Amino acid sequence: MNMDKIRIKDKVFRRYISKAEIARTVKRLAQRIQEDLKGEQPLFIVMLNGAFVFAADLLRAMEGPCEIDFMRMKSYEGTSTTGKVDLLQPLHSDVKGRTVIVVEDIVDSGTTMWTLLHYLEPYKPKCVKIAALLLKPKALRHDIKVDYAAFEIPDDFVVGYGLDYDERGRNLKDIYTLTEEGQTDK
Ligand code: IMP
Ligand code: MG
Repeated sequence: MNMDKIRIKDKVFRRYISKAEIARTVKRLAQRIQEDLKGEQPLFIVMLNGAFVFAADLLRAMEGPCEIDFMRMKSYEGTSTTGKVDLLQPLHSDVKGRTVIVVEDIVDSGTTMWTLLHYLEPYKPKCVKIAALLLKPKALRHDIKVDYAAFEIPDDFVVGYGLDYDERGRNLKDIYTLTEEGQTDK
């Protein structure tokens, strides 16, 4: 089915980035990262839940040795950030001396990534880089560097390709953005 508009619970979203554009851009990003990682044995930390679709495509578009582990942090309720970050699943891998690439769905205020960087610091990784599917530059409130961002987007709420609205919409193939009609009843 080819849907330009979708409804999730009380909100209406319109298609914003197509699956074809996502596929092209993620592939290009994977090539860039692979080029930069030549000779390294990187550890990728995939941030659950949102990054699972992006990570699956990004990591399969790369060749060469790589290890993958998962962490879970949560800061969002509905369509806005709570401002605090809960660690729901800690990291099990040893990051000491490792080149770490964090794979994240979206960097919004940057609070989650800022918290993660401080969490990893005492374990002494060689370096930590951030690869995000989406970046909202206008929403960023922390001094962090997003080394790789597939798309920069305005400060609007999006779903699909792993991202959710109240746990819905993660399996959408395209990325959708919230419309003004968002507040209509069911
Ligand atoms: P930050 O800590 O404010 O940078 O927010 C990052 C986290 O909030 C992401 O990992 C997402 O899980 C969630 N998030 C931020 N913006 C959106 C959005 O537009 N749609 C869905 N989830 C979002
Ligand atoms: Mg997330």
